[in-house]
Amino acid sequence: MPKVDTPYTIQNLTLKNRLLRSATMENMADDQGFVTDALVNLYHDLAIGGTGLIITGASAVQQKGRVWSHQTALWDDRYIKGLAKLAKVVHQPGSNCKCAVQLHHGGMTGFGYSYGSEDSGYSLNDASESEIGKTIDAFGKAALRVKKAGFDAISVHAAHGYLISQFLSPLTNNRSDKWGGDPAKRMRFALEVCRSIRNKVGKDFPLFWKMNCADFCNGGSEIAEYAQIAKKLVQAGVDLIEVSGGVKEQIKLRSKLKKEAGKKEAYFRDAIQPFREAIGNKALAITGGIRSLNVMQDLMDEGVDMLGICRPFISEPDLPNKIFDPAEKNTAKCISCNKCLLRIAAQPLKCVEFDKTDDD
Ligand SMILES: Cc1cc2nc3c(=O)[nH]c(=O)nc-3n(C[C@H](O)[C@H](O)[C@H](O)COP(=O)(O)O)c2cc1C
Ligand code: SF4
Repeated sequence: MPKVDTPYTIQNLTLKNRLLRSATMENMADDQGFVTDALVNLYHDLAIGGTGLIITGASAVQQKGRVWSHQTALWDDRYIKGLAKLAKVVHQPGSNCKCAVQLHHGGMTGFGYSYGSEDSGYSLNDASESEIGKTIDAFGKAALRVKKAGFDAISVHAAHGYLISQFLSPLTNNRSDKWGGDPAKRMRFALEVCRSIRNKVGKDFPLFWKMNCADFCNGGSEIAEYAQIAKKLVQAGVDLIEVSGGVKEQIKLRSKLKKEAGKKEAYFRDAIQPFREAIGNKALAITGGIRSLNVMQDLMDEGVDMLGICRPFISEPDLPNKIFDPAEKNTAKCISCNKCLLRIAAQPLKCVEFDKTDDD
């Protein structure tokens, strides 16, 4: 089996190792959504920290889908110039780091991580045909802006109870027209988003997709159904599936999954086999709870191609350089307390446990 520090090629994109900084809301753009110096500095540190791939924090494809007050915006061409600064800092000489921007729409408020966000007024179940069409179009247009800004790939946030995940889940999708009902109708929106992106960026530009393996709620979808959705998505042109899980109350869910996983760390390990069978030899990443090099290698031995890590990078952007250095520790210091997740509801991203300042 390949090792965690070996290169991997997806489509035409070669990554120097198997580590993927999973999307992490920074809440650091300005109030209109433009890239700031703080964001550029954050991505500078990540780029030289040793990860093969960075996925940016969720970035809004439409103004009404924006969840956080300082979320990065993608809904207009005037954002391209600032985004290009981020692409440039990631590609600084010597980094050999690649970067995808995560496209996001919050959908109905009250799910996922959207603690403290204002009511978006978006109603999935009442959205008109033309409103749905405009949103699908907005994903394609945002993807093209990302490509124009000089990034290496697109990533789509289809997990955690936001808009695409809301369409997919029977818990949130109560529509009885062509956009809701059986699994084939509930996945129509996701497939249309994929098509819209492909139409804009072409068939060769790498397209990554983060999705749930299960909703972890009574009445929600389970692994078998999501694995079939993943199969359809790769047939429609997705190049990498990143597995996550849950539609709401993420803090409670992650605390529970952490306890259950214990030393095995990875929360969604049970999804590896069914997803591998569903997507054949397409790229598979898994995210959630992964903290130590030994576990990363175990997961690769079980059939995963890339390892997604979020919270540990907040206080250790150089985590890959450390864990690949035999003289250093090979486990992240993050204790998965989720204080950072609560913090981003109103403030910029920071590790509240290890990067304390006077205002904490
Ligand atoms: C502060 C914070 C912000 C996050 N922002 C995003 C995001 O923008 N997009 C996304 O797909 N997931 C987001 N997540 C979820 C993570 O990418 C990841 O799936 C989850 O934290 C589990 O991985 P970990 O145990 O390595 O942290 C966020 C998580 C945290 C803690
Ligand atoms: S605040 Fe807690 S969960 Fe977040 S990065 Fe720091 S230690 Fe990890």
